[in-house]
Amino acid sequence: MYQVLLILHSWLRWFVVGAGLLAVFRAYTGWSGRRPFTKGDNAISAAFSGFMWLQVIVGLGLYFGLSPYGLKAMKVAGAMKNSTTRFFGMEHIAVMLLAAILVQVGRIIVKNTASDTLKHKKAFIYFGIGLVLVLLMIPWGIWNPYRPLFRF
Ligand code: HEM
Repeated sequence: MYQVLLILHSWLRWFVVGAGLLAVFRAYTGWSGRRPFTKGDNAISAAFSGFMWLQVIVGLGLYFGLSPYGLKAMKVAGAMKNSTTRFFGMEHIAVMLLAAILVQVGRIIVKNTASDTLKHKKAFIYFGIGLVLVLLMIPWGIWNPYRPLFRF
C-alpha cells in the first residue's frame, strides 16, 4: 500500500505541474492579449486546483499513515536537525498546503471578478505564486532531498 501511494504521489506531481504551467500560460496570454475569459480557462484552473487537492489527500495518507518520512520520523529525537526529515515532515507539507489554499482562493477571487482582463491578471498572480511554491517544494534534489522523477 505504501508503494502504491508513493507511486501515485510521484506521478500526480506531473499532472499538478502540467496543469499549473498551462493555467499560468493561459492567464498570462489572456491578460496581455486582452482575450475573453473562457470556459477553457476555468477548466484548466479547476484541473490545477483539483490535482493539487488530490495530491494533498495522498500526501496526508503518506504523512499520517504509511511513510517513514511522515509523522513517525518527526517523533524521533533530533528530527529537526536532519534536513531530509525536516523537509518531508514539515517544510514540504506546510508550503504545499499553503500553495493549494492559494490556488483555491485565487479561483474564488477570479470567479468574483467582473472584467475578463482582470480575471486573467488575478489568475496569473495567484496561480503563478502557487506554481512557484510547488516547484520549490518538489524534492528535485537541487536544494532539497532527491527523489526519482518517475517511479514504477
Ligand atoms: C501539490 C502538492 C504536492 C506535490 C506536487 C508533492 C510532490 C511530492 C513528490 C514528487 C514526492 C517524492 C515522491 C517520491 O519519493 O517518489 C513527495 C514526497 C512526499 N510528500 Fe508530497 N507533494 C505535495 C503535497 C504533499 C502534502 C500536502 C503532503 C502531506 C500532507 C505530502 C507528503 C509527502 C510525504 C510524507 C512524502 C515522502 C514520501 C516518502 O518518501 O515516504 N506531500 N511529494
